[in-house]
Amino acid sequence: MNKFSIVIFGASGDLTKRKLMPALYSLYKEKRLDDEFAILGVSRTSYSDDEYRTYILQELQEFMKVEEQDIELMPRFVAHLHYISMDPALESGYASLKERLLELSDKRNFNDLLFYLATPPSLYGVIPLHLKSVGLNVAGSRIIVEKPFGYDLQSAEELNHIYASVFEEHQIYRIDHFLGKETAQNLLAFRFANGIFEPLWNRNYVDYIEITAVENLGIEERGGFYETTGALRDMVQNHLIQLVALAAMEPPTVFNADSFRNEVVKVYESLTPLTEEDLNEHIVRGQYTENGIKRGYRQEKSVAPDSRTETYIAMKLGISNWRWSGVPFYIRTGKQMPTKVTEIVVHFRETPHQMFHCAEGTCPRANKLILRLQPNEGIVLKIGLKVPGTGFEVKQVTMDFSYDQLGGLPPGDAYARLIEDCIHGDPTLFTRSDAVESSWRFFNPILQYWKDHPDTPLFGYPAGTWGPLESEAMMHEHGAEWTNPCKNLINTDQYCDL
Ligand code: BG6
Repeated sequence: MNKFSIVIFGASGDLTKRKLMPALYSLYKEKRLDDEFAILGVSRTSYSDDEYRTYILQELQEFMKVEEQDIELMPRFVAHLHYISMDPALESGYASLKERLLELSDKRNFNDLLFYLATPPSLYGVIPLHLKSVGLNVAGSRIIVEKPFGYDLQSAEELNHIYASVFEEHQIYRIDHFLGKETAQNLLAFRFANGIFEPLWNRNYVDYIEITAVENLGIEERGGFYETTGALRDMVQNHLIQLVALAAMEPPTVFNADSFRNEVVKVYESLTPLTEEDLNEHIVRGQYTENGIKRGYRQEKSVAPDSRTETYIAMKLGISNWRWSGVPFYIRTGKQMPTKVTEIVVHFRETPHQMFHCAEGTCPRANKLILRLQPNEGIVLKIGLKVPGTGFEVKQVTMDFSYDQLGGLPPGDAYARLIEDCIHGDPTLFTRSDAVESSWRFFNPILQYWKDHPDTPLFGYPAGTWGPLESEAMMHEHGAEWTNPCKNLINTDQYCDL
């Protein structure tokens, strides 16, 4: 008898094969899932149960690292899969869905139900209402919704309203997979489990903070989705702003869902509202263009040949509170960059006076702390030390911690961690309704500005480069510059400022 069922809407889609199934398989392999469970895939594509199992088995082989695959275990995992073909937009299919779920439970009561919405965002408002119409929003049920939650402030408020009419807030899990990353969580431990950095972590000692989440891939097969989304909605309003919150928040009094999420909301509410000048000068958007064998965005499948969707965005934001007033936070994200890297760089203020000569032109007057979330997960502190020998020349060197020293990261990625938390009813690492709305409240004026000023510049950058030069210029007024890790970095000595 199954004790719980996971229903995946969008079961034949990209997210399911690339992320959800590998995550569920890895939980199963690690014995972090009870053996008595069923996964019911829902989508319009027609499959029998067996065909769906075969399809997922093939995709697991494609998308999981070879060392994580277990030839004997994978067929046992896919035996838990079931499938129902229906259009989730239409209410008519939901009675059969309910029947199927009853068959998979003890036929009288539902087991614990977890609904995962891995569909296009246009269905996020419809599915919960249809679930309610057939009474599937039972007390033990939970729903995970992918980002972007809403298209702007108004649609996010409307979605929150719909969800609140179907589920209690504690049943709603708005997922932002960046919070599931071990290294993002470690940022909290780094800041709040150590005494030495926290006294420096404020406007008196920090000059500026950079947050980068860039990728060396284009939009691949997701042109249709991306055309209506763009980098601001896809990455900035959720992932990047979450990282800002982790870097800037006050220590929660205790570490539980409410305290932690209260502090996140406080950061969002302290974001300095954007002025006309900010909207004009402190936001740079770009779109990748053809470069050698790399396609430009406008040549991608399902993208309009004159599309003005941004694939890159860099912006400066401020936090108006006692800790951060006057400290710029520079954030950026982009597709088709030279490498994939997500990191936070904290630039400390310069020493007031430098009495040493600097070796090799590297004047280490300011210390830099790099929290690298991926890849080569680790923490690097840049400090100035004396070059051995006569004289007093100083050089910048790195102190380097790598996760490998802790035995590496646990198996399974962010999705495995978050799905497991949801199964155990722990919403700490999921976004609360008020956080979604206050984040949108901050970003909404940008969307409005672009709508009102369709001629706002969209800078082209050749695919495989670090984005529009205007984003460098934006930082110069503060004497700042982006930290660009070298392509294919293997270890931290290869950091370079290009
Ligand atoms: C997703 C975005 O949320 O995050 C993608 O929709 C992006 O466009 C991805 O590629 C990046 O996540 P990660 O974990 O690979 O850095």
